[in-house]
Amino acid sequence: MPEARRPGTPAWRFLKDGVDISLDLTLRCNLECRHCAVSAGPRARGELPIGLALGVLRDARDLGVGRVCFTGGEATLRRDLWRLAEYGRGLGLGLTLFTNGTTLDGAGIRTVSELFSRVAVSVDGPQSFHDWWRPRPGCFARAQRTIVALAERGVPVVVQLTVTARSLSFVEWVGEAAAGWGAELVSFAPLSSQGRAARLGPGFHLALAELDGLYARVLALRGRLLRRVRVELKAVKAKSVLLEHPCQAYACSGHACHSRSTGEPRELTVRADGTVLPLNADLHPRLALGNLTQAPLSELIASYVGSDRHRRLMALAERVWREDVRSWPHAVLPWMEILAGRSRSTRAEEAPAAVSKPEPAAGDGPGDRGPAP
Ligand SMILES: C[S@@+](CC[C@H](N)C(=O)[O-])C[C@H]1O[C@@H](n2cnc3c(N)ncnc32)[C@H](O)[C@@H]1O
Ligand code: SF4
Repeated sequence: MPEARRPGTPAWRFLKDGVDISLDLTLRCNLECRHCAVSAGPRARGELPIGLALGVLRDARDLGVGRVCFTGGEATLRRDLWRLAEYGRGLGLGLTLFTNGTTLDGAGIRTVSELFSRVAVSVDGPQSFHDWWRPRPGCFARAQRTIVALAERGVPVVVQLTVTARSLSFVEWVGEAAAGWGAELVSFAPLSSQGRAARLGPGFHLALAELDGLYARVLALRGRLLRRVRVELKAVKAKSVLLEHPCQAYACSGHACHSRSTGEPRELTVRADGTVLPLNADLHPRLALGNLTQAPLSELIASYVGSDRHRRLMALAERVWREDVRSWPHAVLPWMEILAGRSRSTRAEEAPAAVSKPEPAAGDGPGDRGPAP
């Protein structure tokens, strides 16, 4: 039995309520989207070695994790994707595939539907915007075909929209389209400033007032589509909810909380270089569990839980809640981006919240602003 599974240990308590693991299998991609948080593309290099990926799947089974996401980059470009998925499936893991939906032919769709228990496909808006944003003519039509084909085979499909200031008006359209295509869930997430998104010109990142508007629209859409498709909004939190439930900001010791929950982060991200991070690939690497080239996942978890790095993350979350949430001037917070930004500031302990629209990079002209919404 791995050390992390020994009943009563801190690692056992960490794992017992379930943990989601996300694997960045590759940085390669057939597309080169303007916003790509991992700067993937046809020329990008970096692939999680097969031995490390298989090791994570084995450990996930041994640790009782249960849910693993394959993402990237475009994971479907990996020649050994079916081998990895067959292995994970054989271990009894529930596998989710994140894809841009443009690479799968009929045989690929059949294989995916046999091996994966859920597939998330990105849709950035109607065809003209999607094809400009990714940017590749025809990629909207391909993604749509993939969604419909998977849904027809009974695979639960998630339609994912990254919401920018330019695509805010597409929220309802994407919700209705996802319902019509037979998706199970439509998932909205605001544009973050990672990777290529940091170089986008002005007019793409959501202003804080727009974030409030997005929250309200998603709630209204959820009500409207109640019987047709589930609707979620990721990476942001309502201030009122966080004030009442600090566990949702990982800022509760469990003593005062309604649920007596310590609200531990329950997501791990494995980057293509083998670095394992809690929560979000954009947290400062000093908060990482370690690298798979040094030790297998089970050992990284066992030595992380209760360690200084773990305590620092929890202390950071608590500090952000105390210092930023209470005084936040808007109804909604880009919670994950605040936490990641604070973790990366040079003196994370003292630095104020650092969430702002990124400065336009040299050469980013206002000219290419895409089709009108
Ligand atoms: C990195 S992609 C990998 C999977 C696949 N290639 C795709 O595009 O769906 C996973 C999801 O992250 C979204 N994404 C990429 N860059 C982002 C950013 N800067 N902020 C928020 N979401 C982003 C993509 O649109 C996609 O829905
Ligand atoms: S968002 Fe997905 S499809 Fe677009 S470049 Fe990044 S990995 Fe490729």
